[in-house]
Amino acid sequence: MGRENELAAVTALLHGHRVVSTVGPGPGGRGKTRLAHAVGAAAEQRSVLILDNCEQVLTGAAELVSALVSLTHDLRILVTSRAPLGVSSEAVHQLPALGPESAAELFARRPARCGRRSNCRTPRSRNCAPPWTVCRWRWSWRPPGCG
Ligand SMILES: Nc1ncnc2c1ncn2[C@@H]1O[C@H](COP(=O)(O)OP(=O)(O)O)[C@@H](O)[C@H]1O
Ligand SMILES: [Mg+2]
Repeated sequence: MGRENELAAVTALLHGHRVVSTVGPGPGGRGKTRLAHAVGAAAEQRSVLILDNCEQVLTGAAELVSALVSLTHDLRILVTSRAPLGVSSEAVHQLPALGPESAAELFARRPARCGRRSNCRTPRSRNCAPPWTVCRWRWSWRPPGCG
């Protein structure tokens, strides 16, 4: 959701580079793993290896990636991590935070996915429900028509 540009950017990077790292600072939840899955599903290349959540094992992952790059001819590797691996042939893609509209949409949809009734049926009600209130606090953003 709201990641069309990033999907296109990472896919394009994978065409030109053997190793692409999608990185984002701060706590998890930015959407690196989700994006990597989407890129993998859309990849036209036959062999794209996804190494997800490498931040805990950065040194080992860097060694593995370097070895795989030199042992193979056309394997592409997509890494997600908080910071780049620092290997040669690595293109780094910085994943920005989700824009406020997509973030608010995602936030509002999640209660429904756990089977809970969302108290946020409409962003337009006068009495803005909690997700929208948080979005307003976090981004000074309110949905159109929400006073
Ligand atoms: N753009 C998005 N659209 C839909 N769901 C998303 C999006 N970004 C993140 N999520 C969801 O938020 C949660 C955290 O995302 P995740 O990809 O695991 O973050 P990260 O890998 O950066 O820690 C997951 O449940 C993921 O599916
Ligand atoms: Mg992750």
